[in-house]
Amino acid sequence: MSTVSAPATSSYSDYVNPRWEELLNLLGMNVRYERCLGAELFTDDGRRILDFLSGFCVHNTGHNHPAIVKALKEELDRSGPAMLQTDVPELAGELARRLCELAGGGLSKVYFSSSGSEGVETAIKFSRATTDRAGVLYAEGGFHGLTCGALSLMTDPFWRGGFGPMLPGTEAVPFGDLAALEEKLATRRFAAFITEPIQAEAGMRLPPPEYLAAVELACKRTSTLFVLDEVQTGMFRTGPFLAGHHYGVRPDMVILAKALSGGLIPSGALLMTDAIYNATYSSVQRAIVHTSTFSENGLAMRAGLATLDVLEGEGLGPRAARAGAELRRQLSDALSSFEMVREVRGMGQLSGIEFVAPRGLALRVSFEAFRKIHPAMFGQCLVMKLFRDQEVLTQICGNNFLVLKVAPPLVVSDEQAAEFVAAAMETVALIHSSGGFWTEALQLVRRGINI
Ligand SMILES: Cc1ncc(COP(=O)(O)O)c(C=O)c1O
Repeated sequence: MSTVSAPATSSYSDYVNPRWEELLNLLGMNVRYERCLGAELFTDDGRRILDFLSGFCVHNTGHNHPAIVKALKEELDRSGPAMLQTDVPELAGELARRLCELAGGGLSKVYFSSSGSEGVETAIKFSRATTDRAGVLYAEGGFHGLTCGALSLMTDPFWRGGFGPMLPGTEAVPFGDLAALEEKLATRRFAAFITEPIQAEAGMRLPPPEYLAAVELACKRTSTLFVLDEVQTGMFRTGPFLAGHHYGVRPDMVILAKALSGGLIPSGALLMTDAIYNATYSSVQRAIVHTSTFSENGLAMRAGLATLDVLEGEGLGPRAARAGAELRRQLSDALSSFEMVREVRGMGQLSGIEFVAPRGLALRVSFEAFRKIHPAMFGQCLVMKLFRDQEVLTQICGNNFLVLKVAPPLVVSDEQAAEFVAAAMETVALIHSSGGFWTEALQLVRRGINI
């Protein structure tokens, strides 16, 4: 086993979130990263860690892409206007034009935000302003962010607990269940149906093939807005610019964030139709009825433009489609004979490995013991083993602890992908052999972990 570098400590523990630091220490994942480039993270003790998480789909262009870093330096050097709040930011116009052209389908105006959650909040407000209805429908198991409105669109009690009451009028339907959605839509109480096209944190759940197109039609019939949250799936992560493009749909709004600005500056974008823009910003008096200080800021816009240049110029969408399919094929070949591996699934470079409870008695006893301690225990130990022994960074899904994410930067090389497959195979083999994995994990518990 490799040695673990000195924990990253500082005033963080005193002044920010000591429990986070504690959790990372327990998992042996609190290392000091010195340099991050492409799909590789280098620690101060000389380790090289392969990033197969991408900061939850932030680093589509890889860490610190030189072209994006250069564009940001140039933007700072030109001493141009930043956050004047009293001008027309030209870079925002240019970025919005390119995003709308890439998205297509009647999306023709953009509101820029600083996070994915803010994009979701904005979509809720604009849906209400456009339809004069209060309700918002969403899909069970999805992840939309942790601000009050976005949290109200999430069913998982872990995220909601203690933060209620949620936004009134928000109701869930099962993801993929058209009949359940149609029943709710028929009441005409709902301004919008907001869903991810592929539910990432729910365990890389793909919709039934015809589902999203049928949802679009059902929404149209009931004058309900159809909103796609592409915060993880957008920006060529699954191959095309939007995951919605796989399904040929024309949503009324699309939410982007995460990878939009090359992993360097907080930024998000809500793409909408002219009809939604006109209903919300309905007169000159209402020109700033919804805005935010950091929206349209020069550095974020410059980063967005440079990020699109890289994604398009390096053909990272087609590469994600090809390399992602190949990675899933290799993972399936390597892992499908193990009884605890149910499926490898995904699209482009957004994949998940789903685990199930073992059938054999020996493994089952250990697995159930883990589950009793905490439902995330097994997955978190798997993540820990991959990190500490294989030097691979990944995570389990936030709303489905039995699915391991496989989401490298889109610049990942075939060799790096092969390394990941070998690391996953070795770790999964260890889990299926009676000893090591389970004993070491139980030692963690004895040290007092309560994930
Ligand atoms: C699909 C989706 N929507 C929205 C969000 C919220 O984005 P942010 O964390 O930038 O607020 C996330 C965050 O993980 C997400 O995965």
